[in-house]
Amino acid sequence: MPKVLVIHGPNLNMLGKREVDIYGDDSLERINTEVEAEGKVLGMDVHTFQSNDEGALVSRIQDVDKDFDALIINPAAFTHYSIAIRDAIASIKKPVVEVHLSNIYAREEFRQKSVVSSVAKGVITGFGPNSYILALNALKSLI
Ligand code: DQA
Repeated sequence: MPKVLVIHGPNLNMLGKREVDIYGDDSLERINTEVEAEGKVLGMDVHTFQSNDEGALVSRIQDVDKDFDALIINPAAFTHYSIAIRDAIASIKKPVVEVHLSNIYAREEFRQKSVVSSVAKGVITGFGPNSYILALNALKSLI
């Protein structure tokens, strides 16, 4: 069964409590449970990881080629400026889907730039928790 890693970046552990008007009231735990359930439907083994720490995220991304068949990542604020996260993604061979709950192109100007998109296979932004479900479905034909 293909293994997919879902990585959540900084502050996403606060989902459900944080800016609910933008990010909704689902907790990260609930989103993870839903993504794992969709994985079962699609025949994929879904693993999840969250960190507020850039180095921890880089290290986890570096493990993807060895341990997983694909990566779904919401780099959160790091999307907009972390060349370290971008370079880690560029270094792996497995397909990567960049995901955002909100539509980053409909928000503040500083969020409208992603340093990650050019090294991702594709980007899904603006569908709330469903962005992760759509990403999993997009990966189905790639792995
Ligand atoms: C986000 C968008 C980012 O701009 C923000 O910093 C986040 C979440 C999203 O999922 O919509 O933390 O990645």
